[in-house]
Amino acid sequence: MRKVICWGIIYIMIMGMTAITTGCAREEEELPGEEAPEEELRIPFGDVPAPEDMIVDAAHWKDRYPMIYESFLRTSRMGDFTVEDSTLGGLHPADYLEKYPNIKILYDGIGFSKEYYVARGHYYALEDVINTARPKPGASCLACKTGEYEKLYVEHGEDLFRMDFHETVQGVEHSISCYTCHRNEPGENVHITAPHFAIGLTKLEEEPPAGTQACAQCHVEYYFDADTGEVVLPWDNGIEIDEIEAYFDERGFYDWKHPRTGTPLIKVQHPEFEMYTGSIHDRMRISCMDCHMPMVEEEGETYRSHWAKSPLKTVEESCGQCHQDAEGIITQTEDIQREIDEMQVEVSDMLVKLIEDFAAALDERTMEQDVVQQLQTLHRRAQYRWDFVMVENSTGFHNASKARKALEEAKEFAQEALDLLAEQE
Ligand code: HEC
Ligand code: HEC
Ligand code: HEC
Ligand code: HEC
Repeated sequence: MRKVICWGIIYIMIMGMTAITTGCAREEEELPGEEAPEEELRIPFGDVPAPEDMIVDAAHWKDRYPMIYESFLRTSRMGDFTVEDSTLGGLHPADYLEKYPNIKILYDGIGFSKEYYVARGHYYALEDVINTARPKPGASCLACKTGEYEKLYVEHGEDLFRMDFHETVQGVEHSISCYTCHRNEPGENVHITAPHFAIGLTKLEEEPPAGTQACAQCHVEYYFDADTGEVVLPWDNGIEIDEIEAYFDERGFYDWKHPRTGTPLIKVQHPEFEMYTGSIHDRMRISCMDCHMPMVEEEGETYRSHWAKSPLKTVEESCGQCHQDAEGIITQTEDIQREIDEMQVEVSDMLVKLIEDFAAALDERTMEQDVVQQLQTLHRRAQYRWDFVMVENSTGFHNASKARKALEEAKEFAQEALDLLAEQE
């Protein structure tokens, strides 16, 4: 019961923030000839149902919302697409280790160097987290994998974070479900059910549209608090790439030390929300949902697709309202992705060289401690920026200028380290 009250307080804080931010919303930059989607959705105060009343099985809504339910089940599809996949995103199943062999060296010392697959649909979230060989610190991992997480949270309180993953997951049946974004009210409201995001929201300067918040519950950078096991969003300083880095630096935080250079590194997760924020489309208040879950027409009925997938499979519906030339906009999107992907590979080549030269230098000669530390700092900065772009799932599309800038900076840090190493010879 205590938790439910806590929730109320969090929501009141959110509502308070809403009032403040609407008062001082910044002037939107005028973009020529285009209009944002008509109306903005609001996140309401959420009443958390009692655990026994929570409707966590999506099938419950099958008869009431047959088309939405059916579209939601399409997140189980792999390869069965009506529109061609783009070359860089949306391909399944794909193994990053094969595609980008450099990451075996860059992620040496953590699970991602042994197993790393491209994300699949929401249907598989629970199954995939159970099956991954990567280690799981605790039941917190379930926060982004099942519609039953809030139920567990209300039942166990904060003890949940530390509970054994494998034991806890025994009792969990459903993957991401309607409950995740709507609680018991699909069709009426978007609800935030991820505790970490409800807290994260209070740190944002501007409240994102509801169709972005629903996704930012999970498509964000996060880490597990070392003491409590809680999922935390590192947003105290802001959500820009360097602001998140500063947050980690201030806490002396690192996910692991690179076994060959000793560098304390940050492993970035999937920062779609942070990357997207501030992009051309975001500044027009277009939400994740507008592109990824557009209104579609089938059998004479119009409904909101719940097939969260690559928007390039529904360009007419997702982009057509503003970009009339469907073919052209796909090409333009893929050009951006190709450019960012090439830059990403180029930076990863530099990082491999840096790691190898640095490791060799450590083996071969004695370097001043402060030089070693400088090299480690440069390595950390460069690899963090590269990783931020590498693991962001749109291959740069969500915000090409932010991705480009991060990779440019990564290059500079890596080059500085290589120059410093060369001086040591
Ligand atoms: C302006 C349209 C647009 C918006 C808004 C948008 N995306 Fe995307 N997103 C795309 C495109 C285009 C791709 C690349 C798809 C591809 O390569 O096939 C993509 C890719 C992705 C992918 C990888 C998909 C895959 O199949 O591999 C994820 C995950 C994703 N976006 C999540 C989000 C989230 C979360 C938000 C909001 C923070 C968001 N997107 C906002 C257009 C958009
Ligand atoms: C990942 C988040 C997410 C999940 C999961 C989800 N929805 Fe939605 N849903 C949204 C968003 C965002 C909207 C648009 C905002 C709104 O209308 O409140 C929406 C809208 C709706 C609507 C209103 C339709 C419209 O015209 O906008 C219905 C009905 C609905 N969802 C039913 C469901 C059902 C049933 C399920 C489970 C099978 C489900 N949703 C799962 C995010 C989600
Ligand atoms: C409860 C957490 C959660 C929420 C909320 C969520 N996602 Fe996801 N999403 C995931 C996970 C986890 C995966 C990867 C699943 C896997 O690989 O098994 C994923 C994968 C995806 C993919 C890749 C699908 C594919 O077939 O390539 C897209 C696109 C996506 N999400 C978009 C969205 C959008 C858009 C929203 C908001 C409407 C959203 N997600 C909300 C957790 C979430
Ligand atoms: C509500 C209107 C709107 C929607 C919906 C929309 N866009 Fe845009 N988009 C714009 C505007 C405005 C610009 C900036 C002016 C321009 O370059 O045309 C833009 C720019 C772009 C650019 C150039 C961006 C850059 O970084 O240089 C690409 C590529 C793009 N959009 C792709 C897409 C795709 C793909 C979709 C659908 C998944 C989409 N857009 C949906 C309005 C929209």
